[in-house]
Amino acid sequence: MKRFLSVLSCLISFASFAQELPPLIDFHRALPTWDATPHKRTLSHPENLAFNTAPEIGAFIEYLVKEFAIHTIVETGTYRGFTTAFFSSIGKEVHTIEVVEKIYEETKDALRDRSNIIFHLGSSELVMKDLLPSLQSKPVLFYLDAHWYDKWPLRQEIEEISKTHKDNCVIVIDDFKVPGRKDIPYDKYKKNECSIDYIYENLQKVFSDYVIHFVIPENYASRAKFVAYPKKWAR
Ligand SMILES: C[S@@+](CC[C@H](N)C(=O)[O-])C[C@H]1O[C@@H](n2cnc3c(N)ncnc32)[C@H](O)[C@@H]1O
Repeated sequence: MKRFLSVLSCLISFASFAQELPPLIDFHRALPTWDATPHKRTLSHPENLAFNTAPEIGAFIEYLVKEFAIHTIVETGTYRGFTTAFFSSIGKEVHTIEVVEKIYEETKDALRDRSNIIFHLGSSELVMKDLLPSLQSKPVLFYLDAHWYDKWPLRQEIEEISKTHKDNCVIVIDDFKVPGRKDIPYDKYKKNECSIDYIYENLQKVFSDYVIHFVIPENYASRAKFVAYPKKWAR
């Protein structure tokens, strides 16, 4: 409850900035600002399935990448590479990390023509420990989407980010709980929910001061995203 109130006060304190970029970005209620049509290409393009088939989310992420001059994108949880393909289409260097060897091999093969994607095999937090020092000082967008199994690496991933990218990254987390919105599905593992409560302590180590958004897709089945970035970037 205390943390929920602190999130609320956070949202209120962002009110002046919110005139341009609201804390709650709700595509379900037809937010007009980000046009998703450039990504509604033909079905043969895997990026159309990115973000659990929510091109409007992709349009918003692309806006952030350009607005904040992001150099590199790091995705945890490659799966079939749908979102990896989308990131690749923005034209930045993309690192994607997958723990299941068969998935890693198949997706690497399927996207072999995309020269800006670097595929990594291993558990995300361990790969990040090795990879992130080489990206230090470069602004990175992290898309944290490695889950499904007993070991859920989300908190350790954020810990690794805090060691190299303090106040120099955007963090996007999939399947996130939107406070007060029980109608939007989100992930839970054992007693842990993919929520601000679960990551709060870790997030404090990444940012001195930060802006957050809960991004709601047109179709709730695509799940909401949590977005955080340094407050100084918003000015
Ligand atoms: C929801 S899928 C990712 C979907 C993908 N990001 C997309 O948007 O299309 C989750 C993936 O995370 C992988 N995964 C689970 N635990 C992991 C870990 N510890 N490290 C890396 N990948 C992991 C799973 O094998 C699965 O492929």
